[in-house]
Amino acid sequence: MSSFSFIMQYIKKHRYRYAAGVVTLFVVDFANLFIPKMTGTITDGLTAHTMDWNGVKSCLLIIFLLGAILALGRFLWRFFIFGASRSIECELRNEMFAHLEKMSVEYYNEHKTGDLMTRFTSDLNAVRMAIGPAIICVFDASVMGIMIIFQMMYYVNVKLTLLTIIPMFLICIGEVYYGKIIHKRYRERQEAVSDLTDFVQESFSGVRVIKAFVRERAEMRAFAKQNQNTMNKNLNVVRLQAIVMPLLDVIIGLSSLLTLLYGGYLALAGDITLGRFVAFNQYINMLVWPMIACGDAINMFSQGAASIRRLQEVFEEKPEILDSPEAEDVEKIKGEIDFSHLTFVHRGHTEPTLRDITLHVPVGTTLAVIGRTGNGKSTLVNLLLHLYNTAPGMILIDGKDINHISLKTLRENIAYVPQDNFLFSDTLKSNIAFGAEGEDMDAIVEATQAACIHDSIITFPDRYETVVGERGVTLSGGQKQRSSIARALMKNAPILILDDALSAVDTDTEEHILHNLKKNRAGKTTILIAHRISTIQNADIIMVLENGEAKEVGNHEELMKKNGIYKDMFEKQQLEAAKGEQAAGGDRR
Ligand SMILES: Nc1ncnc2c1ncn2[C@@H]1O[C@H](COP(=O)(O)OP(=O)(O)O)[C@@H](O)[C@H]1O
Ligand SMILES: [Mg+2]
Repeated sequence: MSSFSFIMQYIKKHRYRYAAGVVTLFVVDFANLFIPKMTGTITDGLTAHTMDWNGVKSCLLIIFLLGAILALGRFLWRFFIFGASRSIECELRNEMFAHLEKMSVEYYNEHKTGDLMTRFTSDLNAVRMAIGPAIICVFDASVMGIMIIFQMMYYVNVKLTLLTIIPMFLICIGEVYYGKIIHKRYRERQEAVSDLTDFVQESFSGVRVIKAFVRERAEMRAFAKQNQNTMNKNLNVVRLQAIVMPLLDVIIGLSSLLTLLYGGYLALAGDITLGRFVAFNQYINMLVWPMIACGDAINMFSQGAASIRRLQEVFEEKPEILDSPEAEDVEKIKGEIDFSHLTFVHRGHTEPTLRDITLHVPVGTTLAVIGRTGNGKSTLVNLLLHLYNTAPGMILIDGKDINHISLKTLRENIAYVPQDNFLFSDTLKSNIAFGAEGEDMDAIVEATQAACIHDSIITFPDRYETVVGERGVTLSGGQKQRSSIARALMKNAPILILDDALSAVDTDTEEHILHNLKKNRAGKTTILIAHRISTIQNADIIMVLENGEAKEVGNHEELMKKNGIYKDMFEKQQLEAAKGEQAAGGDRR
């Protein structure tokens, strides 16, 4: 679809508002035109002594009425056209957000957040300018310009008009060029400011590292450089404006000079009356704005068109992960999982991340997945959540291919503690009740007690109302993990996945949480991913992943008997734990 027809769909929805706006615009322009004519009539009447005080009064009354129409009209066209363009901006923003929410995790890996943010801010803004102010400029400028020039020719003098409007066209052409250059400089200035902001933000959040490495001076120098850069970019804008503004006055002055010279000559020769000469001067000045506006409108349209294309790019990317035509909502998921020859290659990788994994997990089982980092543990559970597409028949839940289960049912029935436990900048209460309907305090406390975080929360000054994240308190890694676990437990889903969710929790607390989980999850399926054997040794099934392959499968005793990787890991970790205790004991002495 072309950019033009894309944006026209939205404009058409608001066509009545646009039409009303354009009509009032015409009325305003028309009323505007009569004011110089009235002053001309008064001047002529007074010089020829044909007008008495009453005549002047009625002319003034007309001017006053025209002024009132102008004021009302100018309010109305803004109301209609700006209103419509703001509505379209809002619709586009909503649609874009809704569209992006549907995109896969991979889409976000491949697109920078900053770039997506720009589309929400400056691009949407440029589009709004093109469908609001630019449209006004075009209608207003062309109608005003044509009507003024016509009045000048018809009411005053054709030759005089032709002569004096030549410099005016220079303004229009000049404005197009000026607009392009100033836009580029504005953008550079904007980039410099955002670089500076990023720099300050990074230095503040990284203040500990800066201090620890005694880099304050270096940071100050780097900041001064960035700051200088921002100033230079600002000066670039100011310099151009400083040259162009006086130039504009010169051109306007040139027009006035020509008017005075030739118009004065015509007035002396008696070809035009003094009143028309006065009106002409006013017309010339009125012509400046339409000329500038024309140039501006051309620039706003070209920037808007470029931005519309960037928005279209977002909309044209189809979500990769969709419900297939066979997908259906499942009434009740029990929680039996089957991996059947599951092989998966990440995009951009040549080697498979997971190779030929076959495993049956009955309802109510605790499955543990253990292995070194980068061996595909997170990938495995992401596939179960259908965050990436898998070939048909490779993953079954309750015997049903996950491609045939709607995304909604699938994800509603799986509670997930991601490895990078993310909390929103909101209260702890809202964070923990995130996946649940409503904020039932009893259920929240039950979940936080099971996740061993309740006792910490009640020591915070605002307890459950404590705001976490950038604007609130900083939680420790372990507290964050336990809050994420509580959030997942709140869901009470048939399948629970904990992806390395206990790594930052001390062993005593871990034992507590595991004990609570056992009670909480009786009869329900749980998947535990960990790298500490202590976390998983009581699991019903343990799968050791190495290079994406399920190297060893069985329970703790079986795997120990195998004398393989698992036993090796177990012994190493026992040894490390013993060393750790010795060191701690040494400290105490
Ligand atoms: N979104 C992704 N795109 C491409 N490669 C990925 C992606 N996520 C993980 N990988 C790759 O897959 C491999 C396994 O990663 P992961 O499943 O996170 O391992 P683990 O959880 O065991 O540490 C790694 O080599 C990693 O680089
Ligand atoms: Mg992982």
